[in-house]
Amino acid sequence: MKKRKNKGQKRKEVIGFDVSMMRPFMEGLLKNMEGGIFAIDLNRKIIFFTKAAEWITGYCLDEVLGKKCRDIFKSDTCNEECPFDKVLKKNIPVHMRNVTITGKYGLKILTSRSFFRLDDVHGNTRGIAIIFRDITELQNLRQQVIQSEKLAVMGQLAAGVAHEINNPINGIITYLHLMLKQLAEKKMDPEVWEKNLRLVERETIRIGRLVRNLLNFSRKTEPELGSVNLKRLLNETLPVLEDQFLIKNIKISEKCEDEIPDVLGDHSQLQQVVMNLIVNAIQAVDNGGCIDVALAAEGAKGSECFVALEIKDNGVGIPEEDLENIFDPFYTTKTGEKGGVGLGLSIAKQIIKAHHGRIRIQSKVGKGTTVSIRLPTP
Ligand SMILES: Nc1ncnc2c1ncn2[C@@H]1O[C@H](COP(=O)(O)OP(=O)(O)OP(=O)(O)O)[C@@H](O)[C@H]1O
Ligand SMILES: [Mg+2]
Repeated sequence: MKKRKNKGQKRKEVIGFDVSMMRPFMEGLLKNMEGGIFAIDLNRKIIFFTKAAEWITGYCLDEVLGKKCRDIFKSDTCNEECPFDKVLKKNIPVHMRNVTITGKYGLKILTSRSFFRLDDVHGNTRGIAIIFRDITELQNLRQQVIQSEKLAVMGQLAAGVAHEINNPINGIITYLHLMLKQLAEKKMDPEVWEKNLRLVERETIRIGRLVRNLLNFSRKTEPELGSVNLKRLLNETLPVLEDQFLIKNIKISEKCEDEIPDVLGDHSQLQQVVMNLIVNAIQAVDNGGCIDVALAAEGAKGSECFVALEIKDNGVGIPEEDLENIFDPFYTTKTGEKGGVGLGLSIAKQIIKAHHGRIRIQSKVGKGTTVSIRLPTP
């Protein structure tokens, strides 16, 4: 009878050497890792503290050994959000970003941290290990990059805005002059007045939309994070656009898996993305066109890592040479009545990027366009 290999044996074969022989290697690895590691026992007392943990916190091993971790680090999550019990009982690793801990001499350190359970070779739980990184510098750099990216974009925006606002304003002034002239000559034609007022209304709405988009663009880029269920978000957003589907007699189909895990996101920003994309699809299709919206989770059941949203239309499509420009601020091919501002996709991209997601557009002229978004689950 074939003897079944236990897990440990199998692992040794896969790695190609006996891990237990590698103690110096492991120690070297721990000592030289850039991220700090410390471990606490079941009484939450510190039992292990690496060199990098010393560098980051400013504490020496002797100062922290045997002390309760909350007394040392006074993290802002110590009270309500300590993941100790969750990690211990459910054996689920917990990752936390942007947690401030207190180092030696009251130094505030912004960290990202991962907690996981420590079991010994007999399967007995001994405590919890915490890997953490100082992301203060990273955060500062990220803010600087965001700021300078924004300034660069703002430069482009200024020229575009002047142009975009100037056109409708010229139109409004012309129509108003015509009406004032008729008024002065006491030759008011209600039909002409109605037509002119409608045009003034249309142009004013266009300026309003431009200003709204600009405000969104310059708003804080960091999303306000919470649990967002994209299925619910779609169910809230599609009815808002119902009139537009009806006017163009558009067939809208929704394909959605039963259970879609939540993503970590800013509800109103994500809603804005969906709106922008569906409005683009509506504008791209002819009367009687189709828009298919699909939502699916990616990854093994119970541990899905992404939620994928796809918006597919059978509209005009985008020429290959234009595909590289469509995310640029103020890039638009919509003229006249449709009058696009060219900010919809750049705002969508900016928001998805801030959510650590990806947005991709595939298109064929005359066949249609598919926009795919993937957002990570927490
Ligand atoms: N679904 C689509 N089908 C065909 N072309 C599209 C589609 N989505 C975007 N585009 C092209 O990409 C360009 C940029 O889109 P974007 O949403 O950024 O701006 P816009 O729709 O022109 O104006 P705004 O959204 O600011 O009102 C559009 O002008 C259009 O040429
Ligand atoms: Mg648009």
